[in-house]
Amino acid sequence: MTEYNDKPVKWMLYPSIIFMVIGMLVGVFASVNGFILPDYFAGEYIHFGRIRPVHVSHVTLLWLLAADMGLIYYIVQRLTGVPLWSHKLAIVTTIGYWGSVTLGTYSLPFGTNAGWEYAELPMLLGFLPIKWLVEASWGLFAVNIFMTIANRKYKKMYVSLWYTMGTLLWTTFVYAIGNLIMDLVPYGISRVNVNFFYVHNLVGLTFTPLGVAIAYYFIPKTANTPLYSHKLSMIGFWSIAFVYAWIGAHHMMHGPISQWLQTVAVVFSVWLWIPVWTVVTNFFATMKGQWGQYATSAPVRFLMMGTVFYLLVCLQGPLQALRNVNEITSKTDWIIGHAHMALYGTFTFFAIGGIYHAIPQMVRKPLWSQALADWHFTLSLVGGMVFFVSLWVGGFLQGLTWANWVNGSSYAEFHNNLSQMSFLQTVSDMWVWWALRSFGGALIAAGGVLFAINMFNTVVLKGNEEMQKGAEA
Ligand code: HEM
Repeated sequence: MTEYNDKPVKWMLYPSIIFMVIGMLVGVFASVNGFILPDYFAGEYIHFGRIRPVHVSHVTLLWLLAADMGLIYYIVQRLTGVPLWSHKLAIVTTIGYWGSVTLGTYSLPFGTNAGWEYAELPMLLGFLPIKWLVEASWGLFAVNIFMTIANRKYKKMYVSLWYTMGTLLWTTFVYAIGNLIMDLVPYGISRVNVNFFYVHNLVGLTFTPLGVAIAYYFIPKTANTPLYSHKLSMIGFWSIAFVYAWIGAHHMMHGPISQWLQTVAVVFSVWLWIPVWTVVTNFFATMKGQWGQYATSAPVRFLMMGTVFYLLVCLQGPLQALRNVNEITSKTDWIIGHAHMALYGTFTFFAIGGIYHAIPQMVRKPLWSQALADWHFTLSLVGGMVFFVSLWVGGFLQGLTWANWVNGSSYAEFHNNLSQMSFLQTVSDMWVWWALRSFGGALIAAGGVLFAINMFNTVVLKGNEEMQKGAEA
């Protein structure tokens, strides 16, 4: 039997869980201190503008990407039937990734923000080229995974490997464009264009294919049933590869960019339905006859609820790109609700589902507490729904109010409306929705703490012999 090298998996997964909890708690702090009791705790280092990127960097890079990398180390070995190509390379990757991202993130309160969304990490911290180190670590990760796949024992390539290989290539380019090449682009709208190409592709060509690769592996695995259709999964893979790169400009609809670019973004955003439909149909069809497990298995619950959120988020996305819908929702809190349903509701749920399966398997012990896992799921789901729905309703009302400004057919009428309506009033009208967001966020964070406790105890506490046999079976 092949002896897999699970050390790199653990090096990525264990710290990522701790950072997830910290990131969520920072989110709760940002939502209360930024919106409910503005600047109750005042100070340069904890001001909203400094704390927001700390939250985003925690949950995207220190949690989600790191957890996904750990799960990819896990999956690829099992799908290829060989251990990881190079242990040494994995050590260097781990040190490089954690060192650069942690230092970069924790420098943000001191004003080192590079100033672009999702690309906030500083270029240079002292003599350390942070962004180059992140890119290099990713490159080493990619080499290790590609070489493992090249040396595989099982010749047939399962769909998760396709998604993994795609992500390794795409992320290398996308990260370089948004972080390293960005400064060479002329100032003004061109840079904004490049930034949104990067922002959307970080979601579409990094977190989406990684999340889908993870779900494609863990759904059939945890439900102990074969995948419904390999052919469908391939249609999904190639259509995602073709569609995603074109849609970043939908973030600038009605902005000072050319109309043709906006139209291209709308058309490709609507096409997004194809890959999404293939993925969701495949996952649901795979679960046919297996739904009883939803009541008992923590991984199945998180993976399938993540699939439902994936469907919803990808129904929202194309709709938001339509010009008339975009007119109302763009730049409002609706978008923050949408972003959380994608990165939390979908991809965090997929990663958590994978971790609930992988950690007990690696330490050869069953999960420490099923009851805690049930509570984790309930808090995550209820908290998530309160969070998303409050921001959609509040954001939509916010958008309608702002849209009223443009009533009237002449510039004079438009200007008159502007002067009659106080922008500050539209901000204070959001209070109740933001309070609900904080409440939902607090439930999510509480669920995150239970998850960390459960995983910690699963790893460190001694399982009895019977339990051990159960996990190995
Ligand atoms: C793993 C879980 C989470 C993920 C992946 C996540 C992700 C994100 C992302 C990507 C953004 C930027 C949104 C955008 O620019 O459109 C963001 C902003 C934010 N998040 Fe989270 N988040 C998580 C949990 C939380 C929690 C638990 C809270 C608590 C209330 C929270 C509160 C916030 C706030 C207040 C902002 C700033 C919104 C604004 O600028 O108006 N997040 N988060």
